[in-house]
Amino acid sequence: MKLSSGVALATLAGPWARAETPRSATLSADLRDQPFDADWQFSLGDGDDFAQPAFDDQAWRRIDLPHDWSIEDRLADQSLVNAEIRDVDTAPIGQTVKAPPRAIGPFNAEFSILGDSIASEGGAQTGFTVGGMGWYRKHFRLPALVPDARVEILFDGVYMNAEVWLNGVQLGNHPYGYTPFGFDLTPHLDHTGDNVLAVRVANLGRNSRWYSGSGIYRHVRLSITGPVRFERWGVRLSTPSVSASTASVQVRTVVAGPVPGTMLVTRIKDPAGKVVAETRVPASDGQALLSVNAPRLWSPATPQLYHAECELLLAGQLVDRMVTPFGIRHVEIDAAQGLRINGEPHKLRGGCVHHDNGLLGAAALDRAEGRKVELLKARGFNAVRTSHNPPSPAFLDACDRLGMLVLEEAFDTWRVGKNVDDYNIYFDGWWRKDLAAMVGRDGNHPSVIMWSIGNEIADKHKPQGIATAKMLRDELRRLDPTRPITEAIDGVAGAPVTRPDGTPDQDATQFLDVAGYNYKLRDYERDHAKFPQRVMLGTESLPADVDAIWRLTDRSPWLIGDFVWTAMDYLGESGIGKSDTSGNPLEFSSKYPWFNANCGDIDVIGQQKPQSLARDVVWGLSPLELSVHRPLDGQIERVSMWGWRDELRSWTWPGAEGKAVNVIVYTRADRVELTLNGKIVGEKAMTDTDKSTAQFAVAYAPGTLTATAFRNGRAIGKRVLETAGPAAALRLQIDRAQVRADRGDLCYVTADILDSAGRPVPDAVHVLDVKLIGPVELAAFGNANPRGVGSFRQAVAKTWHGKALAIVRPTGERGAAAVTVSSAGLAPAMARLRIG
Ligand code: GAL
Repeated sequence: MKLSSGVALATLAGPWARAETPRSATLSADLRDQPFDADWQFSLGDGDDFAQPAFDDQAWRRIDLPHDWSIEDRLADQSLVNAEIRDVDTAPIGQTVKAPPRAIGPFNAEFSILGDSIASEGGAQTGFTVGGMGWYRKHFRLPALVPDARVEILFDGVYMNAEVWLNGVQLGNHPYGYTPFGFDLTPHLDHTGDNVLAVRVANLGRNSRWYSGSGIYRHVRLSITGPVRFERWGVRLSTPSVSASTASVQVRTVVAGPVPGTMLVTRIKDPAGKVVAETRVPASDGQALLSVNAPRLWSPATPQLYHAECELLLAGQLVDRMVTPFGIRHVEIDAAQGLRINGEPHKLRGGCVHHDNGLLGAAALDRAEGRKVELLKARGFNAVRTSHNPPSPAFLDACDRLGMLVLEEAFDTWRVGKNVDDYNIYFDGWWRKDLAAMVGRDGNHPSVIMWSIGNEIADKHKPQGIATAKMLRDELRRLDPTRPITEAIDGVAGAPVTRPDGTPDQDATQFLDVAGYNYKLRDYERDHAKFPQRVMLGTESLPADVDAIWRLTDRSPWLIGDFVWTAMDYLGESGIGKSDTSGNPLEFSSKYPWFNANCGDIDVIGQQKPQSLARDVVWGLSPLELSVHRPLDGQIERVSMWGWRDELRSWTWPGAEGKAVNVIVYTRADRVELTLNGKIVGEKAMTDTDKSTAQFAVAYAPGTLTATAFRNGRAIGKRVLETAGPAAALRLQIDRAQVRADRGDLCYVTADILDSAGRPVPDAVHVLDVKLIGPVELAAFGNANPRGVGSFRQAVAKTWHGKALAIVRPTGERGAAAVTVSSAGLAPAMARLRIG
């Protein structure tokens, strides 16, 4: 189809779109939640007529959602920016570097005048990336529909201030960038001609303390239903009683336009797809109770998913159907026994996460969201706190599937802002709708076990803040009586959980089921003594406290877990975690070219950082880990609160020969021994006061460094580091060789620099070229350097710490694909993929 302007019109995908004959009133599930991500037109900037159907958008860029314009290159020709090796690519992280260009790739650190969308208004907070205004337009035609069909569009998340028009008619707006919203398109549709949906997105001013991304960065879906239908989020499941022998499943529905005689049929399918329970009740009942025998319970170790198929039948005909995955599990929390899931005690081994996907920016591609959860699970995390906002559905689906518990947070600010343009200006008008959207969409996920009403709220201890906490708590309780409620409370800005005179302050926590403590490890025991019934949770903590936190948490039932800030590196809050040898005063956030917070256990390309080695040991994933403090050459290193020493798993320190190098062993063994080239160079008996860490000054000589841990005289683990030779070759490691021919799937290709014996060369910086063959495109290419500003979109990238990551995205077709990475002077490497 062509518009008069010549723009190709997308026909709606999905089985129903093929039907040319008028449909009967019988609709099928396929009509709900049709993907509506493909073939949008996009332009930065603003224009008076951009919402008008006749506007000619032919020259706009064609894109597929999810899309984040803030991670894209700002300047037209960025093809060479990554090829140049600069100071910032090779200098140790603690050194001050000569600043690279201030406008490069997605970054613009030029002085910003408010309202100027060219430079970064958020500055260090948003990682020197740029927001501004952007427009999306989508042309579509409808299949033949029954006259009373209803067509609804749903956006999973648009950052931010979305305004939506259909065929030139304004449908409404939605300020908050993290909650879903939708509109009824029905009254304004053209059933025979072309329809144009237009979305204006305005990420303006200083509205975020971290990298938000900009645009329609989550999925969009379209649902076509009849007049008698489940409302959006109109099926809610819970499991009020659970035992090994039986579980009850309660289904509550909100049905629009029910006519007398409409029946609600609910079928429960077990994880193998077998129907294990079924009921049939009048839809006007609005609920049904089913029981499941010998239920397969959902838990972090056994994330078994059931499905509820809810159908509306009118005069025996199916008129609507919703299929909802859910888990059968029972969560209990009290101070005497802590957190139990299905009666089993659990500690929340938690990490805070922001929503971005590193090199992909905020784009919530399904596989990127799933991989994030996989990486955390592999490192022993069983819980995430979605700081400080609701996550994407794909993220929660992955948590359900993989057994990751979720503390889902609603807001970072209430009425008192942290930035002038943040949620504080929308709070009064929107909090109720945003809470309803959060619970409506996410309330069926078994992984979500707790809600948080806010983070470090400025006035939480004042009458207004306390009243607001009650208001939010009451509304959340009304929306979801099944989950406990917390709030992340800081003790910094004059608003302590414990007053300065030492008396615990009940006020801020009085409406909470669980008191969330940010960075108050040293107050826990004192507060527990005063308030033995209080259930406490570390909602934020410092990486360096990992040993102390877990010694206390493991022995204190009333302390149900801890969430480190953060589990993964994220863009923005530039350089809050750093090691610094410059001699300059340590500031909270760092100046350009820092753009990444650098406080995570896992870096932006998915690699373990040294704090993750310590955590592996504390959580028992590993008997010992070995790393080496980068030689300081007489400089003094200072480490920021959220930072860690500049350590690497490396015994390749050219230039340090004969000098004392600080070797670090993480272990909970009772003795550790260190050898260099076969000779003992260190030995230490370990006690609890060593905080699982032993440090040795070792005169550096190339060769083999070996650490062995002993318990009761028996070796329980060994780690070896070998000096690498010069870089000789590239190696590619792919996360999966087979990916789906689906725009939401991805293949992660990690390139390492190796020496001629196949050993990784730890600090190697090389310029790499990537070439793709087959039905794939390059979604991103880069490394984990938190100061390595450049483009994430070019086929050229550098390694940092000897590694780079290419993220490869299927175009949608099936077939064989290959990824080749080459670099001057090194043997190239190729990986083969199967798409489809
Ligand atoms: C906390 C805050 C987080 C993050 C962290 C590190 O106070 O809740 O959002 O800013 O500090 O800077």
